[in-house]
This record gives sequence, structure tokens and C-alpha cells, in this order.
Amino acid sequence: MENSSAALSSTEAERIANRIEPVEDGGAALVVRDLCKSFRHPMKGSVDVLRRASFFVNEGEIVAIMGASGAGKTTLLHLIAGIEQADAGEIVFHRFDVTRADEATLARWRRESLALVFQAHRLLPDLTTLENVALPLLIARRSRREAQERAGRLLARVGLSDRSAHSVVRLSAGEQQRAAIARALISTPSLLLADEPTGNLDPQTAADVVELLIALCREHRTTALIVTHNEQVAQRCDRALFIEGGMIRRSTRW
Ligand SMILES: Nc1ncnc2c1ncn2[C@@H]1O[C@H](COP(=O)(O)OP(=O)(O)OP(=O)(O)O)[C@@H](O)[C@H]1O
Ligand SMILES: [Mg+2]
Repeated sequence: MENSSAALSSTEAERIANRIEPVEDGGAALVVRDLCKSFRHPMKGSVDVLRRASFFVNEGEIVAIMGASGAGKTTLLHLIAGIEQADAGEIVFHRFDVTRADEATLARWRRESLALVFQAHRLLPDLTTLENVALPLLIARRSRREAQERAGRLLARVGLSDRSAHSVVRLSAGEQQRAAIARALISTPSLLLADEPTGNLDPQTAADVVELLIALCREHRTTALIVTHNEQVAQRCDRALFIEGGMIRRSTRW
């Protein structure tokens, strides 16, 4: 055995050591390879959050990202979204190289292809539910009529038609998160990054919201990474990746 592993390339040996799913490289929608990120810490000096983390995700796959608090899950999403810059490594989504793109190209890519859902919904309190959901299309300079029609259809899909003219501050926590999901998906993103999207909700509402999020991703064939501490949420996904010690240590297919 030792002889045969010695014959493997270092990448192959590392993949096996990290037990990453053997997905065909050329066919993957998202390739994350040897990603490194450190932060300076006032007491501890430099903290290596990601140390050559690597994984692949196929098109339309919905993957849970799990790991202890502080393991680097949010950092990983920020790097993939191009909000933070990696120290080393590569992130490629459908041939778009996030790590090498300039700020203007990244901004356009985010507008056209990416959706983010956070634990706190970040809806705008002065707008109605419909206006909040329609906003990404208006920012993308689509007509008001088209934006409102699509927002209305999505609100129906997430069960909020009768709340569309309400101020979002009047919605319950679960309703607000459903509205945030509708807003994230209105521009039919090809990649969705969700950071503990159900973290503030009770278990039943969390299950309903995540069910809806996954159903909408499947309808649009959106590739999704969903950070969660909740095993039940993770089990709704196609598989889960576990971050530990700055690497992807395990990939579980349910
Ligand atoms: N901008 C920053 N500056 C300094 N340190 C940071 C920064 N962002 C994250 N960190 C550190 O990096 C580590 C990973 O943080 P991250 O937020 O990615 O963890 P997480 O896995 O999302 O945790 P949680 O489950 O609690 O949300 C932590 O030790 C955190 O303190
Ligand atoms: Mg986090």
C-alpha cells in the first residue's frame, strides 16, 4: 500500500488524505483548490483559518458546509463571493476565476451570478416585502413592471402573497427569512451562498425555510453552499463537507 501511495501525485495523495469526493475535475461547477487564508490576531499573531482547503461541487449540487464555530465556514463563503481575498489557492466557478478577477469584474459577476443569504435577513425596513424582493432586478436596471411581476410570483411561491404590501418589519422571523430567500433568488443566480440561513429560527420554521430554499435551488438548477450547524438541515442537502483544522476533512453523502 505504501508503495502505491508513494506513486500518486501530491494532489491525489492530498485528496485521499482529506477524503474529498472524487468528482471529475473538468466537470465540476465550482473548484476550490489549496485555498489559504490567515488573519492577524492582536494576541495570537497570525491565525491560519484555511490551510490548503480543496473541494469540488457539481452543477446543481446542494452542499452543506459544517464545522465547529471558528472553523472558517463564513471565511470560506466570503472568499468564494470575492468579499475577502485569499492569500493563496484558486476558486473557479464555471471558468470564472474569483481569486484573480479585478473588483469591477467581481462586482458584475456577483450581480449576475451570485446570491447571498445571511443569518440576519438584511431586508430594508423602509420598503414593503414586494419592494425588497424586487430590488435586485431594479438594481440590474430591469423594468419596474418586470421586477414587480417576478417579485409577486416569487412571493406566491414562498407563501407570502398576502404580505407583499406590508412593511417587512411587520413580518415574523420566518416570514422575513422567506422574503430574503425570494430576494436572493429573483435574479436566478447560478451560485447561492447561504450562511446559517435558519440560525435565528425555531426548529420547525428552520426546516420549512430550508425545504423551500432547496426546492427553489432545484427548480432553477442553482448550485448552492449552505453553512449550517443543524444536522437536519445538512441532511436535506446532497452532501455535507466538514471543515476542520483549515481543511475539508470529510465529505458525507447522506
Ligand atoms: N476579519 C477578520 N479579522 C480577524 N480574524 C478573523 C476575521 N474574520 C474571521 N476571523 C477569525 O477567523 C476564524 C474563522 O472565523 P469564521 O467566521 O470563518 O468562523 P465560522 O466557522 O463561520 O464560525 P461560526 O460557526 O461561529 O460562524 C475565527 O477565529 C475568527 O475569529
Ligand atoms: Mg460563521
